[in-house]
Amino acid sequence: MEYLLTEEQIMMRDMVSKFAKEEIAPSASENEKNGTFPAEIIKKAGELGLMGIGYPAEYGGAGMDYVSYMIAIEEISKACASTGVIISAHSSLTIDPIFTFGTEEQKKKYLPPMCSGEWIGCHALTEPGAGSDAGSTKTTAKLEGDKWILNGTKHFITNGAEAEVSVVFASTDLSAKTKGISAFIVDKGAPGFKIGKLEHKLGIKATSTAELIFEDCEIPKENILGETGKGFKIALTTLDGGRLGIASQALGIAKASIEDAVKFAKEREQFNQAIANFQAIQWMLADMCTEYEAAWMLNFRASKMKDLGLRYTKEAAMAKLKASEVASFCAAKSLQIHGGYGYTDEFNVERYLRDAKITEIYEGTSEIMRLVIASTLLK
Ligand code: CAA
Repeated sequence: MEYLLTEEQIMMRDMVSKFAKEEIAPSASENEKNGTFPAEIIKKAGELGLMGIGYPAEYGGAGMDYVSYMIAIEEISKACASTGVIISAHSSLTIDPIFTFGTEEQKKKYLPPMCSGEWIGCHALTEPGAGSDAGSTKTTAKLEGDKWILNGTKHFITNGAEAEVSVVFASTDLSAKTKGISAFIVDKGAPGFKIGKLEHKLGIKATSTAELIFEDCEIPKENILGETGKGFKIALTTLDGGRLGIASQALGIAKASIEDAVKFAKEREQFNQAIANFQAIQWMLADMCTEYEAAWMLNFRASKMKDLGLRYTKEAAMAKLKASEVASFCAAKSLQIHGGYGYTDEFNVERYLRDAKITEIYEGTSEIMRLVIASTLLK
C-alpha cells in the first residue's frame, strides 16, 4: 500500500516503526502484566511529536495530516495496543474537540502542553447508564455566577487516572435530552473532582480505565467548550475521528498477529517440516492478510476524507467495524497457528487476542457501527 502514501507519510511510518520496535515493544508485555502506565514512553512520544501529530505547529503540534496519525497509531499499536489507545484517546478524543471547537484562549492554554505530552487528556462521555445510548447523559452542569457546577459520575474513561485535562459532557437541561448536553474542559485539580474506581480488564492493562466523580465540581465559566447545548454533536463529531484511531489500533494488533504467525509458521516443525508448508496454515495466513489489507484500505479512505474536510461518519464507522473484527479474527487465527504455545504468555499472541476484543466495544460497539452505517442507507 506504500504507493498510496506521500514521502512525508512514509518517513513518519519508518520513524514511528523504529521507535515502536526499540522503545515500546521491549516493555510491552511487562507493562501489561503489571498494569503499569508507560509514562516514560509517553514522554518520549511527546518529544518525537507523536502526542499532537495532526495539529498545527503554532499550537505545538507536528503539523501533519490524519493519514500520518493513522499510520503512527498502527505502528505503535503493533508493539503495544495500550500505548496506542493512550495516544489515540489523548489526541483524537481530547485534543481534537479543543482544537475544533475551542476558543483561541482555550487552544493557546491547552494545546501546547497537550501536544508535547506534558498534559495527558481524556474524554469523559460514558456513564453507568449512558454507554451506547450516549445521549442519555445524567451528569449535570449549572451556571452559578462565574462558575459551572458539575455533578455526576463518568465511567470507563481511558486515561482517566493520568489526565490533566478532561473533556466532560454534561447536561445543562435534562428535559432537552441530547440538545441539553454541553461540553466542558475540566482541569485535574478542579474542586469537587476526584478519580473513583479503576477497572480490572481483560486486556489493554497498561492503560487506566477510571471512574470520574464530580461532586459540586467548580470550573470557570469560560471552560465551556463550544456552544451551550451543542455538546452531543461535539461528542459525535469527535467520535468519528476517534473511531479512526481505534481502527488504527486494531490494524496494529492485526498486523502484529500476522507477522508473528508467519515467523512461527516458518520456524515450527511438525511431521518433519515447517508448518508453513501445510495448506491449512497457508489458507489461514492468506485470509488474515486479505482481511487486514481490506480493513487498512477502509481506514485509509476515511482518514483521507477527514484530511479533505469531507463528512466521513459512515466511512469511519465502516473502518472501525471492519478493522476491529479483523483484529480479533487475525489474533484468533494467529493463536491457532501457534497452537499450545500461543495459549501461553511465552508468546505475545494471547495479549493480541485480549487486546483485540476491546476494539469491537469502545468508541462505539460493532452493533452501533452497523447502526450508523445502516442509518446512512435508510435516510
Ligand atoms: N457528527 C455530527 N453530528 C452527528 C453525528 C456525527 N457523526 N451523528 C449524529 N449527529 C447529530 C444528528 O444529526 C442529530 O442532530 P439533530 O438533533 O440536529 O437532528 C444529533 O446528532 C443526534 O443524533 P441521533 O438522533 O442519531 O442520536 P442518537 O441519540 O439516536 O444516538 C448513536 C446516535 C449513533 C447511537 C450515538 O449515541 C452513538 O454513537 N453511540 C455510541 C457512543 C459511543 O461511541 N461511545 C463511546 C464512548 S468514548 C470511548 O469509548 C472512549 C474510550 O475510552 C477509548
